[in-house]
Amino acid sequence: MQDTSFPSYRGQMEYVCLNCGARRSGESLLYTCDACGGVFLLENTDFQQLKATSGQEWRDIFDRRATTAKTALRGIFRYYELLAPVFDEEDIVFLGEGLTPIIEASPSLAAKIGLPFAYKNDGQNPSASFKDRGMACAFSFLKWLCRRNNWDEVLTVCASTGDTSAAAALYASYVGAPLKSVVLLPHGKVTPQQLSQPLGSGAVVLELPGVFDDCMKVVEILAEQYRVALLNSKNSWRILGQESYALEVAQWYGWDVSDQCLFVPVGNAGNITAIMAGFLKMYDLGIIKRLPRVFGVQSEHADPVWRYYSAPKGNRHWAPVTVRPSVAQAAMIGNPVSFPRVQKLAERFIELGGERAFQVVRVTEQQIMDAMILANRNGHISCTQGGECLAGLQNALKIGLIGGNEHAVLDATAHSLKFSGFQQMYFENSFPPAYDVVADASLANEPVLLLPPNAREGKDIQTFAKMGADAVASKLGLLKKK
Ligand code: F0G
Repeated sequence: MQDTSFPSYRGQMEYVCLNCGARRSGESLLYTCDACGGVFLLENTDFQQLKATSGQEWRDIFDRRATTAKTALRGIFRYYELLAPVFDEEDIVFLGEGLTPIIEASPSLAAKIGLPFAYKNDGQNPSASFKDRGMACAFSFLKWLCRRNNWDEVLTVCASTGDTSAAAALYASYVGAPLKSVVLLPHGKVTPQQLSQPLGSGAVVLELPGVFDDCMKVVEILAEQYRVALLNSKNSWRILGQESYALEVAQWYGWDVSDQCLFVPVGNAGNITAIMAGFLKMYDLGIIKRLPRVFGVQSEHADPVWRYYSAPKGNRHWAPVTVRPSVAQAAMIGNPVSFPRVQKLAERFIELGGERAFQVVRVTEQQIMDAMILANRNGHISCTQGGECLAGLQNALKIGLIGGNEHAVLDATAHSLKFSGFQQMYFENSFPPAYDVVADASLANEPVLLLPPNAREGKDIQTFAKMGADAVASKLGLLKKK
């Protein structure tokens, strides 16, 4: 039966500081704790009420909503009660985000890897990355705030490795006044496709020399001292929206994720935070009976989270790293702002799911590129960060972290087309030395020009088509039909 009603349940959202435990009302936009500077997560203080509904009932509710015709519930807010149950229907922004497909690895690819796995194609979101999940929630919140406060102008700002800015600009341009989008990018360190996105959406695009970590510091100062709305994942509403990824994975697998191992590329660490938070909520409500395993993946060229967790427990020290050029450029971050969130949630994950429930693996740049090329030659649409996940799975298999009846779900966080420049560098074997990537020449692919550039001139279509067909047949060695 189709569910056409908007939920009547409303919760109370509060910011909770993960460092000192301070609580602040969720009715304003806050980023860091005024008492200690720590990062927040949002908590529904009426969450306990949701327990009056059984896990089975929640599963049924979410399954029924799968066919809803109600726009506000068609995307991430299919899981309204578990995300941000304070918005009214009119606040919810839906641009087609969420419910991205999970595609089982092609038989040839699965055979090569040696473990069944699937890609969840989050590049099939409207701005072609997972960031849209978070923006749908953050922009719904901003609409809700503007309506309540009668604000007439709100400047949204974010630093970005390319995808946050694309998503922020898209949603801001859709919502329109009073919202305006400004994005701050590290010059030359987002791909041309990613750069074209905020430009096309009409955002103000500002660039600074340096890397993402530098731009992040700048927008933090701006958010502290000026009247702007920060849209980086310090904004906890974004984390809430991104929790939908976990809910979708669980629903796809019939709410049983006990044999699933999720591989997630880690940059600013917002995504892995959200994914763990989503699973923990479902576990708490009895919607899932067991947690899946979560593997964070980092490149050798930007590996602060891996460094932390690779040290023995009791001897772990947090230290940002200076990044080196990475093909997983969107995750090329040395000082992830959500690291304290990861720490907190990983602890809980391990407490409930055992030592193996949360791990971080590291991969080389070479492995990332080889894996992306391999995936896409086998019918997938993986970005370099999705390649990073596949390389992570390969390493986890190699060192015996995973196996048996397990199945992996890899997060292809963006569409392959955003990163086609790296594919081109691979085909041309033209990576600058700092990337540490050498192409496998047997995989190079380039277009073949069949006739000289002036061959079309002065010919009618029939004559030219005959020449073209002959050239194709000769190139491919086609046999004539009898
Ligand atoms: N994959 C892609 C395609 C990304 O754009 C990002 C982050 C990540 C993975 C890492 O996710 O930061 O949540 O750990 N991109 C941000 C941006 C930083 O500005 O677009 P994370």
